Amino acid sequence: MATQTLPQQPLHDLDEWDEFLEGRYKEGKSAEEFRVYDATATPGVAEFYRQNHENMTVEYVLAKEAEYFSLNKGQKTIWEAAEFLNTLVDDSDPDTDLTQIEHLLQTSEAMRRDGQPRWMVLTGFIHDLGKCLCLYGEPQWGVVGDTFPVGCAWSKDIVFHEYFAKNPDRLIPEYQTKYGIYEPNCGIENVHMSFGHDGYIAEVMKPYLRDESLYMLRFHSFYPWHKHGAYDHLCTEKDRSMLEWVLKFNQYDLYSKGHTKPDLKELKPYYDDLFAEFLPPTLAW
Ligand SMILES: [Fe+2]
Ligand SMILES: [Fe+2]
Repeated sequence: MATQTLPQQPLHDLDEWDEFLEGRYKEGKSAEEFRVYDATATPGVAEFYRQNHENMTVEYVLAKEAEYFSLNKGQKTIWEAAEFLNTLVDDSDPDTDLTQIEHLLQTSEAMRRDGQPRWMVLTGFIHDLGKCLCLYGEPQWGVVGDTFPVGCAWSKDIVFHEYFAKNPDRLIPEYQTKYGIYEPNCGIENVHMSFGHDGYIAEVMKPYLRDESLYMLRFHSFYPWHKHGAYDHLCTEKDRSMLEWVLKFNQYDLYSKGHTKPDLKELKPYYDDLFAEFLPPTLAW
């Protein structure tokens, strides 16, 4: 398959955002270390968040949900989706960098080594397949980045919060209150989250996987919630009970990346069985 690079995008590649997260949430990080994440220290990441926060409006989110949540981009197997995502390469050192499939396998293999349930290993493998949105032409800021609800006040716990100053939703009073367009404790499943790879992959998997898995998929980048405890006023008891699974997942998402290349050929039979156990042969994307 032909490879593609990302033109004119602030991040060197999508992994730059993952590396930023890993640095930001590294355990034992002191307040001083935390401050290095400003616009001067990480200009690409800052520009990426500026674009994200200025453009992620209610109107934009509803339009993207209508476009992608109807799953009309064709049928693909999991392997086909993973191969498709693999055509997204970055222009950094091709010898040392891992492919997207290798990154997915590192996450799922770390779960498997720890004896996590099979449905969770599956979730680990598929969790970033939604990054193929980039290959459909979506900009980086509409694919990755921490996610947050739209249509209500932005939490101060959203990174680079200051960039919301130029978001047009700032001028709509209804969107600026604590609850905005939502009812108290309406459930985060019923909230319109900023659009990205998380929500998309959760929609693809919705008919097939259990709630714990869908929460891991849908909310894995919702750092303001799962790391900072924000937006509890929109949560139900179910959301709160699912949080422990999202946190369990996050450990692997943040820390499982290494530089040993997983052996796809050797691992493939295990994953063929795993996919067949939970999913139909092809899925609507
Ligand atoms: Fe992700
Ligand atoms: Fe990830």
